[in-house]
Amino acid sequence: MRRGLIFAVFFAWAVFCALAGFVVADEDDMTTGERLAALLRASRTVISSHQKLINDESLGNKDLTGQRVVNEALQIFAQRKGDQNLSPLDRQLFAAQVAAIKEVVDEHQGMIDMKGVGFKGFIPATFARLVNERFEEKVGDKAKIKVTAPEDLIRNRKARPDEWEQHVIEHNFQSPDWPKGTSFTEDVEVNGRQSFRMLIPEYYSASCLTCHGGPKGEVDVTGYPKEGKAEGDLGGAISITLFK
Ligand code: HEC
Repeated sequence: MRRGLIFAVFFAWAVFCALAGFVVADEDDMTTGERLAALLRASRTVISSHQKLINDESLGNKDLTGQRVVNEALQIFAQRKGDQNLSPLDRQLFAAQVAAIKEVVDEHQGMIDMKGVGFKGFIPATFARLVNERFEEKVGDKAKIKVTAPEDLIRNRKARPDEWEQHVIEHNFQSPDWPKGTSFTEDVEVNGRQSFRMLIPEYYSASCLTCHGGPKGEVDVTGYPKEGKAEGDLGGAISITLFK
């Protein structure tokens, strides 16, 4: 009887610890995912803030080096996220992302500094895709970042949603009662590996509509037909996978 009680208490304690550990691990994953998304967004903001400079056909050397973009992105990141407490893995992922940003900008210096060419196609979305591809080359066995969108809005085939992403977009983000801006997380298997997945919705702001707005079908400055969307509409999602 007594032994039974002791066992029951011990068992309850063990279950509690297991659950608490599980929740904490998930919270850590969420923080990591949010951090990766925040640095990606900060770096896109930097490219966006220099879009006029990048598109200036009268200017050669623009001094928009990889290091400068990294510095400005880290500044925006710090303003938005504050001090971060990084685990060794987090530090590795962060460093890989910083290096990816720097490399992509440096590799495009020749194009960015080209005189006589206005629009060069170096826009936040393309830049972000290249950064995410480079990030995957560096730490693809540990993490993956991708910007995707609802299937009918996809411009670049590389951004197509996989089954899990499309399901979350359709059943959660596009559902009228999904709280706007809320991300979706789930522990699932990816290619046979236990993984933490996170999808963060992104909505069009007024500045996106020169390309993604109306009239629908009209070709934008990048050569793609516009989607005819409005401010506040779901435009895409940042997809983060952390492999266990
Ligand atoms: C100058 C035109 C332009 C503007 C402005 C623009 N986009 Fe895009 N967007 C593009 C192009 C071009 C692509 C394809 C980029 C690629 O992968 O090469 C794209 C891709 C995307 C994607 C990835 C999925 C896909 O279709 O390939 C998302 C999500 C997206 N844009 C959302 C936005 C949001 C949100 C904004 C505003 C904050 C924005 N865009 C502003 C042109 C633009």
